[in-house]
Amino acid sequence: MKRCRLLVLSLVIAVISMGFATIAAAGPIVIKFSHVVAENTPKGQMANKFKELIEKRLPGKVEVEVFPNSQLFGDNKVLEAMLLGDVHLAAPSLSKFKKYTKVLQLFDLPFLFKDMAAVSTFQDGPYGQKMLMSLESKGLIGLGYLHNGLKQLSASSPLRVPADAKKKKFRIMSSDVLAAQFEAVGAMPLKKPFSEVFTLLQTKAIDGQENTWSNIYSKKFFEVQPYITESNHGLLDYMVVTSAEFWKGLPAELRTEIKKALDEAIVFGNMVAAQKSVDDRQKIIDSKRSKVLVLTDAERLLWVEKMKPVWEKFEDQIGKDYLAAAIAAGK
Ligand code: LMR
Repeated sequence: MKRCRLLVLSLVIAVISMGFATIAAAGPIVIKFSHVVAENTPKGQMANKFKELIEKRLPGKVEVEVFPNSQLFGDNKVLEAMLLGDVHLAAPSLSKFKKYTKVLQLFDLPFLFKDMAAVSTFQDGPYGQKMLMSLESKGLIGLGYLHNGLKQLSASSPLRVPADAKKKKFRIMSSDVLAAQFEAVGAMPLKKPFSEVFTLLQTKAIDGQENTWSNIYSKKFFEVQPYITESNHGLLDYMVVTSAEFWKGLPAELRTEIKKALDEAIVFGNMVAAQKSVDDRQKIIDSKRSKVLVLTDAERLLWVEKMKPVWEKFEDQIGKDYLAAAIAAGK
């Protein structure tokens, strides 16, 4: 009698679990895409385009949920959350992978890329492509690069020459290269999450920060920073990442379609980036809230001379061959 009851119980459990398995297999795969910027930015637009393409092409099979403005995770938590399966796609700035790999520090070296064409040439070349795989031993896969653009320096006082930055506090992303870059001009760098920057500037807890035109515009930094130096001194680009476990667990045909949609969304995001670097700059000028300072060649050279020696400190960690390839891409 007891054996019979046990048998019935196991049968019931088996039927229930089969039911769950069927529901799970029948329900759509949900891709959570978390990012920290506003929706009217290259990354925000790229994420929304990806959602739109997926839902048009894979209805009922895959759903995309986009969480902008650090709603779900800030950049300091998102990769850990990804490894735990709590989020599936993110595109942190290349400056935010320090815990996972040293090679990406290359992209933070000041005055390395003269324009975004040089960045694309490098990223599309063999070294750039190899770097997408640099996170694999940590369980993450780079699916592609996304542009934002070159960074500018904003501050509460005019910055024309490096001495103007002395003893000033600048918020930076979590990168040792960026810390060294500001120390090289005698400034004080502070690693802080993107979500805190506006308040830090508004309350004058810090004097300045570095960012792209679209981030300065969309997060209203220009309203609390009376000066922006058009320095184009560094790069802010992204790597679109996922976890190896999630990616490899997708059915092959869906994975191919998802990658295709992502590649198209990135092309779209790069177009938005190019446009916003012009338009958002102009909107800031037109607002008259912030004065945009254009450096003379001689002034710019002073920044280059102070900041570029930082390269030497990091070239062994990055790899001299990577650095040589990045330099060659700009020639
Ligand atoms: C920042 O923290 O300044 C940027 O990484 C934000 C972003 O993702 O563009």
